[in-house]
Amino acid sequence: MADEAVSKRALFITFEGLEGSGKSSIISFLVRYLKKKRLSVKIFREPGSTKVGELLRNILLDKKKVISPCTELLLYLAARTQLIEEKLKKAFKDYDVIICDRFYDSTIAYQGYGLKLGKMVEKVVNIFSLGIKPDLTILLDGSVKKGLKRIKDKDRIEKRPLSFHYRLRRGYRAIAKKEPLRVKVVNADRSLKEIYSSIKKIVDDFLRKKCIKKF
Ligand code: TMP
Repeated sequence: MADEAVSKRALFITFEGLEGSGKSSIISFLVRYLKKKRLSVKIFREPGSTKVGELLRNILLDKKKVISPCTELLLYLAARTQLIEEKLKKAFKDYDVIICDRFYDSTIAYQGYGLKLGKMVEKVVNIFSLGIKPDLTILLDGSVKKGLKRIKDKDRIEKRPLSFHYRLRRGYRAIAKKEPLRVKVVNADRSLKEIYSSIKKIVDDFLRKKCIKKF
């Protein structure tokens, strides 16, 4: 852990967003930025980042699979508990910053709002995140249609009707409204340069508040 970092565990930053919102390139940019500041960074993705999680990811995204809404919910939760218990808890001790490409807000948006499983999802999500809560969540929000257009070979979730994607966007916006201190909305319908610059500002502010002196 860097000398200047005063937090006892790693700072936990999650990225959320609609399909085709460009999360991956933005995460790579942020990792480079944080490493330049001599912070140790570990990235995970959800579902995935463990052997079991990656197997579950293959099932969940396979467009040939028929999966019922509740089964889908349980598989996402299973991938998450595996990640937390197998890797995340340890990584919290070993790194300054952990970045997760999606975490429990995805479940609330996609299964709660998108699949209309409703409030029950929030309850189970709370139970099965095993006490882990992101310190900062960056939500890449933009046009549903533009995002989907960027994807060439759509997976099982991306192939869903537009109405599903509009509902999940509504879900994300509701989460951001409920938790404005944690969830920062970034307009993804701009150039990468503009998006990076907004994210840099958000992250710098966040680190300053967390008393990491090199910021
Ligand atoms: P992605 O990380 O490449 O975007 O793919 C993950 C897909 O899984 C994406 O369509 C969002 C979806 N998802 C859920 O539906 N619920 C969840 O809880 C998570 C973590 C992801």
